[in-house]
Amino acid sequence: MTVVRTIAALRAEVAAWRRRGETLALVPTMGALHEGHLALMREGLRRADRVVVSIFVNPTQFSPEEDLARYPRQEARDRDTLSKVGQCLLFAPTVAEMYPEGFSTRVSVAGVSEGLCGAFRPVHFCGVATVVTKLLLQTLPDVAVFGEKDYQQLQVIRRLVTDLDIPVRVVGVPTVREADGLALSSRNASLSAPERSRATALYQILQETSAAVTLGVAPNAAAAAAVDRLLAAGFTPLEYLEVRDAHTLAPLTGPLIRPARVLAAAWMGRTRLIDNVAIEPPGTSGS
Ligand code: PAF
Repeated sequence: MTVVRTIAALRAEVAAWRRRGETLALVPTMGALHEGHLALMREGLRRADRVVVSIFVNPTQFSPEEDLARYPRQEARDRDTLSKVGQCLLFAPTVAEMYPEGFSTRVSVAGVSEGLCGAFRPVHFCGVATVVTKLLLQTLPDVAVFGEKDYQQLQVIRRLVTDLDIPVRVVGVPTVREADGLALSSRNASLSAPERSRATALYQILQETSAAVTLGVAPNAAAAAAVDRLLAAGFTPLEYLEVRDAHTLAPLTGPLIRPARVLAAAWMGRTRLIDNVAIEPPGTSGS
């Protein structure tokens, strides 16, 4: 696998592919790769001739109290994992390459970044939007692939691509789950055995909330019932559980006539888990 660490080297590789008329997908990651990331890479391979996977633990999306230093870094293992799935170019820049001295630009996406995770992680989406904008402009892919597990992040990226006229198709890939429904996450490794078995309630409760709203239960009532059930299942603190419009992420006010999403973030012991489930308006199938 070819690994490049500078923007110049990345651009040289991309330019050579473009001269041959090849298409390109970008899969941005922060490493510590699991099956969820591999699903993104497979989607990239399906949609383009070439795939660039980036591994960059982006400091600007961590607040001072979130432990950036403890974020897992395992590039050799990640390279091994990627090579089993297919051919890709790995872009693994240093912090100095991405944020050289004097770097002072931030990309801030109003609206969709606010509330939900944005209320609890105030710098997070600005950091994500900034680094994703840079990665898109460095690579200039035809397609960029992100997971639906970070659903608010996906909507933030869709919004910035539209607003900044970046010529890329943003593709969201459904969340990859364990057999019992728990969404794959590098954080799952820090759950103890009893926490791990209780954690499965998150997905079950989100699914049941989604079904209740589709059947006509008012979103607020369904969300309030789900909050009680999550607390009873041992999720504490519970940051949020909300039903939002699937595209704008605005709170649902009237009847369910457009696709919606129920999203939650909650702590199980010392592990913060997030997840979300689609809600389809009655009489529709698939968003
Ligand atoms: O989802 C992630 O892993 C990160 O937030 C991303 C999109 C790679 C930006 O650092």
